[in-house]
Amino acid sequence: MIIPTLDTARLTLRAYREDDAPAIAALHGDREVVRFISPDGEPEGSLADAWDHIAKHTGHWLLKACGKWAVVEKTTHRFVGRVGYLNPPYEWPGLELGWTFCRDVWGMGYATEAAHVALNWGFENLPTDEIISAIHPDNAASIRVAKRIGERHLREGTVSGKPCLIYGMSRNEWRGSVSART
Ligand SMILES: CC(C)(COP(=O)(O)OP(=O)(O)OC[C@H]1O[C@@H](n2cnc3c(N)ncnc32)[C@H](O)[C@@H]1OP(=O)(O)O)[C@@H](O)C(=O)NCCC(=O)NCCS
Repeated sequence: MIIPTLDTARLTLRAYREDDAPAIAALHGDREVVRFISPDGEPEGSLADAWDHIAKHTGHWLLKACGKWAVVEKTTHRFVGRVGYLNPPYEWPGLELGWTFCRDVWGMGYATEAAHVALNWGFENLPTDEIISAIHPDNAASIRVAKRIGERHLREGTVSGKPCLIYGMSRNEWRGSVSART
């Protein structure tokens, strides 16, 4: 399985590497970043946890033909976040596109830019009728990213037993949005 590399104007989305561990540990060690995404809202900033994350999400590509990318700034080659897919067969609401960025780049539009190219890649490459994003109801920034890439509120759901909002888009809606742009 070759993990694809995607480009946007300012960013490169590439496969995780083992040496991303310190950057991922810093990302997951930031309480503000993990507030809505870690199981108990607590930071998980160890290198061992970061390595487990890299191994899990690299393995996800092998098992599910999709997964997460590390997002790096083109100008600096710096790791600024992660974006991509998660679709475990158990206790998960569907093919989920997620986004998490380092706090010092919030507000620069990177999440929207990376999520948009990842969403297009998903519909172009995966045999799915729907892509979703499971979002904590209080996560206003994430809801905004979902809306910016064309997702809409589809239904209520749960992740790890906790209620969440399911945003997303059907393949037909995606086709319509692509033809509206061309
Ligand atoms: C969610 C996240 C990736 C958004 O990053 P970001 O850098 O703000 O995203 P963008 O710069 O692309 O901005 C997207 C929009 O959200 C808006 N936004 C940002 N923070 C916001 C907030 N706290 N409340 C409301 N809107 C907000 C921006 O103004 C922008 O809207 P606009 O394009 O209409 O101006 C970032 O907050 C993050 O990493 N959070 C922690 C991890 C997380 O919760 N991930 C989502 C899991 S579902």
